[in-house]
Amino acid sequence: MIIKEAEFVISNTEISKCPTDGKAEYAFIGRSNVGKSSLINMLTDRKKLAKTSGRPGKTQLINHFLINKEWYLVDLPGYGYAKVSKTSRAMFEKFISEYLTTRKELANIFVLLDSRLEPQKIDLEFMSWCGEKGLPFSMVFTKIDKLSSTALQKNLAKYKKEMLKQWEELPPVFTTSSDSKFGRERLLNYIEQINLNMNKT
Ligand code: GTP
Ligand code: MG
Repeated sequence: MIIKEAEFVISNTEISKCPTDGKAEYAFIGRSNVGKSSLINMLTDRKKLAKTSGRPGKTQLINHFLINKEWYLVDLPGYGYAKVSKTSRAMFEKFISEYLTTRKELANIFVLLDSRLEPQKIDLEFMSWCGEKGLPFSMVFTKIDKLSSTALQKNLAKYKKEMLKQWEELPPVFTTSSDSKFGRERLLNYIEQINLNMNKT
């Protein structure tokens, strides 16, 4: 898929203020600093579309980016950020879970996982929650430029093993690097396929 246009539309914490044009959207979620905003920039080939930072906790709102005037990429805040207070974490969880469970336009959730880490409880729990709620999701391993392919394969195998304890089959799995742009075509083609299927029905 070719990205001709990518424009920022709106940031907010209120579902009622999200776009109402009914276009399909794809949300990026995962722990703080895992590379959600960077991946959105990599996919759209725009360096500063989504704000990134070396420090966790950069993205705080639900951010809609309109792509080719046809569909949205949605950048979400990270979960599991230790430095936020309990109250703001609870509030955060509320608006994110409300967004994920009520947004009819949500075509797929990309759950980002740091490819350098072994399976993390918080990520496994989040994916179980998606399963319970019947939300479609894919696993996206990030930052693969930061480890050897042997180490990557080892972590992927561990993750698959862990997931298969809970699931009969694995969701789609992607490996990406926002630095080298590895995985860009495959992920965009996957989105394009979902868009096509939705237009058929
Ligand atoms: P929050 O908004 O705080 O939840 O973080 P985020 O998940 O949006 O992460 P962000 O995209 O801001 O990236 C965090 C840090 O990781 C930045 O310093 C990025 O440059 C770096 N980073 C992200 N993706 C990659 C990658 O594929 N490779 C490398 N080497 N660094 C990456
Ligand atoms: Mg971010």
